Amino acid sequence: MASSPLLMALLLALAAVASAQLSPTFYATSCPNALSTIKAAVQSAVANEKRMGASLLRLHFHDCFVQGCDGSVLLDDTSSFTGEKTAGPNQNSLRGFDVVDNIKKQVEAICNQTVSCADILAVAARDSVVALGGPTWTVKLGRRDSTTASLSQANSDIPSPASNLSALISSFSKKGLSTTDMVTLSGAHTIGQARCTVFRSRIYNETNIDASFASSVKSNCPSTGGDNNLSPLDLQTPTTFDNDYYNNLVNKKGLMHSDQQLFNGGSTDSQVSSYNSNPSKFASDFAVAIVKMGDISPLTGTQGQIRLNCRKTN
Ligand code: HEM
Repeated sequence: MASSPLLMALLLALAAVASAQLSPTFYATSCPNALSTIKAAVQSAVANEKRMGASLLRLHFHDCFVQGCDGSVLLDDTSSFTGEKTAGPNQNSLRGFDVVDNIKKQVEAICNQTVSCADILAVAARDSVVALGGPTWTVKLGRRDSTTASLSQANSDIPSPASNLSALISSFSKKGLSTTDMVTLSGAHTIGQARCTVFRSRIYNETNIDASFASSVKSNCPSTGGDNNLSPLDLQTPTTFDNDYYNNLVNKKGLMHSDQQLFNGGSTDSQVSSYNSNPSKFASDFAVAIVKMGDISPLTGTQGQIRLNCRKTN
């Protein structure tokens, strides 16, 4: 039976699908202009609003931590479908969906149903970091899009700003990422903004915080009200992808509780200090770690689909 040619062919086909790998050249023949199209659209979105680079980077993170990097974060709720957009970490917080729609439209216009929404997020994250002065890396491609989403996993698996160090370590470990990767990827908080509601308890109640930093942030984040008032995650250079995040932590100027946990007398202090004194080490480690993040449980081969519209399944 095992030597039946039909069965052998079936097994080989199954093995090929199961082992389909992401590859940097995935669109080389099927859509050679995909990457340049995405890059130009990201550059224009970031030129229009610098914060958008941060928002696009975060979308890739929130995509990958829920069901893997499969575009699930982009799916809208409908009367019969529940997406991830109303999850605690996402609602009133994630942004950039219109920019992704615009990129998808442009990419569909040049190559019909070829480039996945999940790959668009991975490439847009890289192009955003580059547009804000950070390192570049080669994005692995060939992810396909999910037909499902998980509100419950978005609530449970995306780390909370109230997390302590051990919770941060375990939420990354659950995704196959090391503590070192966690500290490296957290350097993304060198760009972008956070709402008062996610850092209020730190600036009013914690003691491992620089006093003048706390009082300056309090000026736009009252002890009650103003929940959506924004503060930059990195007060110095919120639109430049540099290593200032680690400098802030060493100086007790981490904005969120979870940020300061990385430099609070624990096992990750030494890595924070090392990135503070060695920006190029941070830049090259970030490039490696984000490729690893982009490898979390992709759909490949014949799994999932290439969505025509990133907001809904085909
Ligand atoms: C280590 C655990 C992490 C926690 C607890 C965390 C939490 C948060 C929170 C609470 C915000 C502010 C959201 C708001 O106020 O609406 C934020 C913003 C942001 N996060 Fe994280 N994050 C983590 C890791 C990461 C990673 C790994 C990345 C990317 C590689 C990332 C990228 C960003 C960016 C770029 C922003 C600013 C977004 C914007 O301005 O639109 N974060 N994060």
